[in-house]
Amino acid sequence: MKDHQGRSIQYLRLSVTDQCNLNCRYCRPEGHSTHSGTLLTPAELEAIGAAGVRLGLTKLRITGGEPLLRSDVLEITRRLAALPGVEELAMTTNGLLLADMAASLRQAGLMRVNVSLDSLAPAQFFALTGGGDLAAVLRGLDAAERAGLVPMKLNVVLMGGINEDKIPDFVALTKHRPIIVRFIELMPIGESTAFVTERLVSSDAVLHACPELTPVPGRLQGVARVYQLPNAVGKVGLIRPMSRHFCGQCNRIRVTADGNVKPCLHHEVETSLRGLTGEGLVAALRQGILSKPAGHTMTSHRPSRAGRNMHQIGG
Ligand code: 5AD
Repeated sequence: MKDHQGRSIQYLRLSVTDQCNLNCRYCRPEGHSTHSGTLLTPAELEAIGAAGVRLGLTKLRITGGEPLLRSDVLEITRRLAALPGVEELAMTTNGLLLADMAASLRQAGLMRVNVSLDSLAPAQFFALTGGGDLAAVLRGLDAAERAGLVPMKLNVVLMGGINEDKIPDFVALTKHRPIIVRFIELMPIGESTAFVTERLVSSDAVLHACPELTPVPGRLQGVARVYQLPNAVGKVGLIRPMSRHFCGQCNRIRVTADGNVKPCLHHEVETSLRGLTGEGLVAALRQGILSKPAGHTMTSHRPSRAGRNMHQIGG
């Protein structure tokens, strides 16, 4: 359905947990508490998905925290995949547990995965994530490809002085693999705002580091502007929430792990969906879409008004 700005809203992101098995510095730094209260059950998530489909939200994404930490993630996937009218069902994961789960997720009806990966060097990955095992993530990527969870996207959050000099290594991955490597500008959200402000780099850095990248004509894939190396199999995407706002093209709403509809990542506005069913649920989601703000007001010096940390919203 259309929102008040005339934007066509088709995409629903469902956070299924705020727990994570990593502590990325910009998202859920170590020691940060996670307490969203009671998580939505598979049946509640299914009902929200069904209400969304009624309103034309035909693309669903399962997010977290880390969604694969939910022991019932396959049931959630199965229920969402079985909803008539769902055209796309994807998941964003850090990939740590993907190697063992990719085939079952595909079988349950998942179509694609986006994997968050900010370093290709084991020691740096370990440091950035507070103990993450890069080899496990790389096994996860292979398993996802084998299982047919494609085209796969890699989300790389650009951090000045940390992984900025590794841009060519990430871009090189697209030469022979049919993946889309997407560079995301750091956003000052929640408790990580100070860290983010110091590390923010424009994704122009990608084009400076790899001048041979050429725009793929007319391609705005979701929120990403798409580029490609000559003769590469994969593609490169730039997601620029800071240097070039894309709020005018925003097509999504979110539901937090504790069951609030959140019309904009960067605004505090939320409404609880808890306890609602049938028409009441559809009406609350519709109201969420209609209360979607025209745009965010975040700058490098003015943090997001998300009112939560990123792992509680799901990106
Ligand atoms: N700024 C930019 N991207 C972020 N993500 C999490 N926190 C931030 C932030 N502060 C990314 C994750 C994931 C995606 C859903 O959002 O790395 O890939």
